[in-house]
Amino acid sequence: MREKLRAVQVTHRVEREHFSILQGTLRVVCFQRAPASEGIPARNEGMTLLLRIVQKVSPTFYRLGQNVHALASKQGQLRSIRERRPVRGDGSAIPWYTYPAIEYLSQFDFSNASIFEFGAGYSSLFWARRARTVISVESDSGWLEHLKEGVQPNQKVLLRQGRDEYVNAIREQPDLFDVVIVDGRWRHACLEAAMDKVRDDGLIVLDNSDRYPEATGRLRDSDRFQVDFSGFGPVNNYAWTTSIFLRAACRLQKGFAPPLPIAGLRQTFGAQDEE
Ligand SMILES: C[S@@+](CC[C@H](N)C(=O)[O-])C[C@H]1O[C@@H](n2cnc3c(N)ncnc32)[C@H](O)[C@@H]1O
Repeated sequence: MREKLRAVQVTHRVEREHFSILQGTLRVVCFQRAPASEGIPARNEGMTLLLRIVQKVSPTFYRLGQNVHALASKQGQLRSIRERRPVRGDGSAIPWYTYPAIEYLSQFDFSNASIFEFGAGYSSLFWARRARTVISVESDSGWLEHLKEGVQPNQKVLLRQGRDEYVNAIREQPDLFDVVIVDGRWRHACLEAAMDKVRDDGLIVLDNSDRYPEATGRLRDSDRFQVDFSGFGPVNNYAWTTSIFLRAACRLQKGFAPPLPIAGLRQTFGAQDEE
């Protein structure tokens, strides 16, 4: 036990020392920036050098940094936090769901799917790019005005400010939907309506499901599997859960593409690789 404690203390001291070396190095690199006219941008050279030093001095810190980079740049969280809107690093619209849920939903072929969404937003554009039709209901007129500019031909956005008209907007629609997303106001009531209006082989998406234990219980009691995608997402400085509810009859697997995680290693193995 004592040995273990000593080892922890030594590691802690070494890491602390490494950190001060790192801070010093960072200062040096910043001061030694070469003029931009010398060819390769000075910042990249400095950055590469800095990364090499960090890798050498503290492999732990370096690996942690790679993960921070994946979240900040590859997932685009840095830009979304800066701009306070759910976008990737290149500015393209994504839903305000957790990143694991977005990656999961991006695997499927929704080109023939009809979508109904409670709570319009950047998600509406994301779905419009993928699905046959998207109907969104929104209660905030100012927000709707902001979204109107980007509305696509396969999209309809309904303004419903009162509770009943908002919840019942889905019941006014003659057909059932392949996907219903609950991500706006009055979520308990919207989920009840969603269960009535989603196809048996379709799915329901509930964002922030960690805050709605009663509602998720209702969905599970309706003979649906709950699949949770917890983790970080755009804009927010905390993790949350986006859940998908589906029945065994769900036919989404038909358009399934194998996962390609953002910042993954992009390696695949066949059966022959194991011989
Ligand atoms: C958490 S947002 C989610 C909207 C949408 N489903 C998405 O993923 O982008 C829920 C509600 O917040 C309101 N809202 C107000 N300002 C907003 C903003 N800047 N971005 C997104 N929603 C906003 C809208 O009324 C919207 O229906």
